[in-house]
Amino acid sequence: MKRGAKLPGKFQRRKNARKNPLQIPSFSVFALVLLATAALLASALYFQKNPSVEREDSSPEAGQPVTINGVTVPPPPALDASAIVQGEQLYAQHCAACHGVNLEGAANWRVPLPDGSLPAPPHDSSGHTWHHPDSVLIAITRNGGDPARNSRMPAFRGQLTDEEIEAVLTFMKSRWGEEERRYQWWITVMSANQ
Ligand code: HEC
Repeated sequence: MKRGAKLPGKFQRRKNARKNPLQIPSFSVFALVLLATAALLASALYFQKNPSVEREDSSPEAGQPVTINGVTVPPPPALDASAIVQGEQLYAQHCAACHGVNLEGAANWRVPLPDGSLPAPPHDSSGHTWHHPDSVLIAITRNGGDPARNSRMPAFRGQLTDEEIEAVLTFMKSRWGEEERRYQWWITVMSANQ
């Protein structure tokens, strides 16, 4: 047999291994670089969309004013107990089917559906409801999601009064952690002052 001609596969591999002692195929280095670039891009996009979400509240105790990005707003007001009870009932009746009985959201809620729309996100601390000011949450509940994105979030205008929408929102707030509640209060005050 001629040298280098028809070598069986395992000899071929050994030959390559000698040339590349660490046995790192060059395509995997390429894939790693590609992955790292994608991760960087994704995080840059995320922070561009949610510039303040990761900012620290420098006085995170309950009952204290909220300071984020050097801007202080008064402490979050106490939630109305009867609105929480009313909101809990309305939530079970109108929202739980999609957003989950315990506000946990639909399964795999981050993965778009075949029609490009998103499954219902959680309304507890694990979702992004608390990233938005009251005005945005009330508007989405009243008017529904964006039809341009095939949103499956229905409009509740005509079905729930403004006071009832407010009560559902109060119920959701009562389920958030202290940090989420303080952040959402801060962004609500900030957007009202704009
Ligand atoms: C038929 C299913 C369905 C019902 C019922 C429903 N939702 Fe939704 N909701 C969705 C979907 C799907 C989304 C995500 C929409 C999107 O991003 O396009 C959503 C998104 C939202 C958002 C935006 C959250 C965010 O962080 O962007 C709010 C607020 C919301 N719903 C409130 C409510 C409230 C309050 C009720 C009950 C009064 C309710 N929804 C009932 C399906 C539903």
